[in-house]
Amino acid sequence: MIIVKTSEEVVKMRASGRMAATVRDEVAAMVAPGVTTGELSDFAGKRIKELGGESAFLGYRGYPGQICVSVNDEVVHGIPGPREIEIGDVVSIDVGVRFDGYIGDTATTVMVGVTDREVIHLVKTTEEALYAGIAEACAGARLSNVSHAIQRKAEDVGLFVVREFVGHGIGKTMHEDPQVPNFGKPGKGPRLKKGVTIAIEPMLNIGAAGVDVQADGWTVLTRSGRPSAHFEHTVAVCDGRAEILTVGQK
Ligand code: MF3
Ligand code: CO
Ligand code: CO
Repeated sequence: MIIVKTSEEVVKMRASGRMAATVRDEVAAMVAPGVTTGELSDFAGKRIKELGGESAFLGYRGYPGQICVSVNDEVVHGIPGPREIEIGDVVSIDVGVRFDGYIGDTATTVMVGVTDREVIHLVKTTEEALYAGIAEACAGARLSNVSHAIQRKAEDVGLFVVREFVGHGIGKTMHEDPQVPNFGKPGKGPRLKKGVTIAIEPMLNIGAAGVDVQADGWTVLTRSGRPSAHFEHTVAVCDGRAEILTVGQK
């Protein structure tokens, strides 16, 4: 069942969304050669606490990190640890914050001295696909229009959509109805309503769509071994353009 939020609830989701975005941007700015993914997670945990929130990920189904940090062929759900960031890495940072009972979920992908044009194109297109999806998330529109817009952005330029993981409704819990796949025919699924809050999160690959979950039970890897990119915003459906709840400070 899709939960429609009241305007008071959307106000609360704005607060948790901003916190998540702040931490996302601060962690992204910290990504540099020699920094470990565990240091990024520790910093995130400290900042989430300072802002008055708590990590929505830590302990979720036993997840051990404050955030997810997914490097190169890691698509999503990378567990922070001793791995050092290196020049040429593609690093996705996914942050979830709970504040006042509501969750904001957001991700970005940063490149560390990447010169490979195909990889730069992947990261740029994944971000564009996120905004193409958001542009379709209007009251009255069918949900799969969001999915279709993302798929078009990716496949029109020869990139591949990860199919096993999807965006989702979000609110008091991280994963609510509806699922928001990053592919699909337009004009299907429920009609969006003002007050529906969803996390839209394209994950795009180069060369092939296939992924596998690593033996740790979390880390999702591209089967090709090639890099993947991931961008995510939590948005509130409105009459007209959706409101991005996970906007940064500037
Ligand atoms: N943030 C992820 C998502 O976008 C979910 C992370 S679950 C965790 O849906 F347990 F790995 F944190
Ligand atoms: Co996320
Ligand atoms: Co999400």
